[in-house]
Amino acid sequence: MNVIAMQDWAAVGSITDIPRQGARCVKMGEMTVAIFRTADDHVHALEDKCPHRSGPLSQGIVHDGCVTCPLHNWVISLETGEAQGADEGRVRQFPVKLEGDTVLLGLR
Ligand code: FES
Repeated sequence: MNVIAMQDWAAVGSITDIPRQGARCVKMGEMTVAIFRTADDHVHALEDKCPHRSGPLSQGIVHDGCVTCPLHNWVISLETGEAQGADEGRVRQFPVKLEGDTVLLGLR
């Protein structure tokens, strides 16, 4: 028998509350999750903690499917949470989707 893991989703606001190429933070227990909005209105969710020295990724600039950390300019993939280029590290990534304008964050 196959067991299909069900994903629980939590509504965390409207995409219109997030600036394009910016982010908005939500608390998930002790953790802060940054919800990013791309220029073409896709959403991504990463822990708001750069894998370099824990900089606030939510204050970075979103571009080309990545966010640039405001502290030392590491570039982090919004899709995977992985540092790009020569830098190594990964931040936790969360499932996120839109239902109309409502942003739904996957809880697991
Ligand atoms: S803390 Fe993000 S690049 Fe250094």
